[in-house]
Amino acid sequence: MAWRALAVLSLLLCFGSSCCDDTQDQFLSATVINNVVQDPQTGRIYLGAINGIYQLNSKLQLESSAVTGPKKDNPQCSPPITAQCTDAKETNNINKLLLVNSANGTLVVCGSLFRGICSLVNLHSVDKPLYYSDTKGEKTYVASTEESVAVVGVISYYIDVNSNANLSVFLVGKGYGGSDSSKLISTRLLQEHLEMDVFENMVEASTVQASPFVQRYLHDFRHAFNDNGYIYFLFSRTSGTSDSRKITFVARLCENDHHYYSYTELQLNCTVGVEQQENTYNKVEAAYLAKPGKVLAKNITSSNLTDKVLFVVFSADEDGGQSALCMYPLNSINSRLEEVIESCYIGEVLEDEKPKTVYSPYISKTEAICKTKRDKNMVKEYKCGAEFLPSPLASKPEYALSVKPIYTRNDMLTAVAVAVENEHTVAFLGTGGADVLKVHLDSSHNDFYHRIQGERADGGVNKNLFFDSTLDHLYITTGRKITKVPVHSCEQNNDCHSCVSQLDPYCGWCVLEGRCTRKKDCRKGDGENAWLWSPKQTCATIQSSVRIPEAFCIRT
Ligand SMILES: *[C@@H]1O[C@H](CO)[C@@H](O)[C@H](O)[C@H]1NC(C)=O
Ligand SMILES: *[C@@H]1O[C@H](CO)[C@@H](O)[C@H](O)[C@H]1NC(C)=O
Ligand SMILES: *[C@@H]1O[C@H](CO)[C@@H](O)[C@H](O)[C@H]1NC(C)=O
Ligand SMILES: *[C@@H]1O[C@H](CO)[C@@H](O)[C@H](O)[C@H]1NC(C)=O
Ligand SMILES: *[C@@H]1O[C@H](CO)[C@@H](O)[C@H](O)[C@H]1NC(C)=O
Repeated sequence: MAWRALAVLSLLLCFGSSCCDDTQDQFLSATVINNVVQDPQTGRIYLGAINGIYQLNSKLQLESSAVTGPKKDNPQCSPPITAQCTDAKETNNINKLLLVNSANGTLVVCGSLFRGICSLVNLHSVDKPLYYSDTKGEKTYVASTEESVAVVGVISYYIDVNSNANLSVFLVGKGYGGSDSSKLISTRLLQEHLEMDVFENMVEASTVQASPFVQRYLHDFRHAFNDNGYIYFLFSRTSGTSDSRKITFVARLCENDHHYYSYTELQLNCTVGVEQQENTYNKVEAAYLAKPGKVLAKNITSSNLTDKVLFVVFSADEDGGQSALCMYPLNSINSRLEEVIESCYIGEVLEDEKPKTVYSPYISKTEAICKTKRDKNMVKEYKCGAEFLPSPLASKPEYALSVKPIYTRNDMLTAVAVAVENEHTVAFLGTGGADVLKVHLDSSHNDFYHRIQGERADGGVNKNLFFDSTLDHLYITTGRKITKVPVHSCEQNNDCHSCVSQLDPYCGWCVLEGRCTRKKDCRKGDGENAWLWSPKQTCATIQSSVRIPEAFCIRT
């Protein structure tokens, strides 16, 4: 009797804690959402949609918004658009880039109108513009006018040697559209400084631009981040030869590199048959930088337990609809980059005098690079390159950093976010069909265990997939909608069996409380057999002949 009463009570408790979370926080924009960013300091969410930007609180309630289009424009005309621009017509403003500059309380907003000029708005109230000018000319054109050209960016700094000022800038990576500037990478000023205008390009290096060849490289930038004094860009492009197949690169350069002397591209292969050297999953879709849980970190060779790992989802552009998740420890990326740079600096060349490990991308340099034999220490001494050292460099395909996928699918993966719960790693993978798949990434598992169902009509999951500040919820964007979804639903399982059959690394059966919980929510959960971890799939064995309701799972 007592058992039964308790069972009923625990059932009630379970319902009590789960029923009312079902009303999901969500926000519907009037138009398709292109970009989503979060201000880590306030937890606010900013949406860059077609013809509008929105500021939401962490519960996705609207705080402020601004209309950014449509406006009369013609990509052939130089802004400002006047009567002289005869063919101007009402044009949608596709948001290309949103960046939170919390140090200065501004949001950087770059759209497709007016040659991709950006504006600054108030981070606390996006309806309050802080800076916009369409009269400063080509040096301030940032984004792309073409819908299909992706743009990524990251906030950084630039020390002006003359004034010794530490200037606030952002670096931009963008593909090439017909009426865009040909620069693949640029550094943009975020404040006025001496004669220079806001958004002015600070680096006049002609190296990391590809004109007139740029078109055939077809860059597709997917991600940019900084770590430990370096800026990284992740993109796919063609090889620049007749081969039109995309390949994926991570490019690294030093922060505050005024000439991009340190710019180096490393090919990333996500490959099934390493022996046959097939580059199966060739095109990067999205990426997420995170520290993996201990269990996974131990399994990644060459990874130090404190290392960050770049989790990358790729698609196979040949057999449309196939995709994979690959992991690249940042340490491995850095060491491989240094290996290929060093090989060039010390003059390793093949019989035909061509460099052994690298080539010069974009510029068809006629003089052979890497022929001068320099000291091995150069790569350490000139960590950020120098005028007399060859640049830019790209690794040859044979020196790609090649890893096997940790997870593969026969449909499209479009987004990835990674979380750690009690040393275990969970990947949240957005699909082309609007779902988010939860995959447990420990060596012995790599199991897909749950699907957060989206609405097919919304299209694929936006690559901006991330957590709230407590890491308890995930923000998922599809089409015009952003939704805040809990990372687990342990509490919905009312008995030990259903709790462990979830295989959810977040969940376990809390024996004392008779509830399915996270470990941190289980009183005395650290004790032996007090919290039975779901993926272990064992409720305590019951040895006595008296059947105890399963809900209790008490070891006798
Ligand atoms: C912050 O923004 C203001 C204008 O809003 C500008 O004058 C100032 O230089 C900026 N400071 C930094 C560090 O970017
Ligand atoms: C310049 O400012 C940035 C932050 O705004 C800081 O991270 C960096 O260390 C500063 N650099 C120098 C040399 O002061
Ligand atoms: C990582 O896990 C896989 C799958 O369980 C295993 O085959 C491999 O040997 C592990 N590698 C290391 C370095 O532990
Ligand atoms: C791991 O990284 C830490 C900090 O970077 C370093 O002190 C330690 O020596 C590294 N361990 C190994 C085994 O490389
Ligand atoms: C990486 O893939 C390319 C094809 O894109 C292939 O030629 C190359 O050998 C691969 N590299 C490695 C190290 O597997």
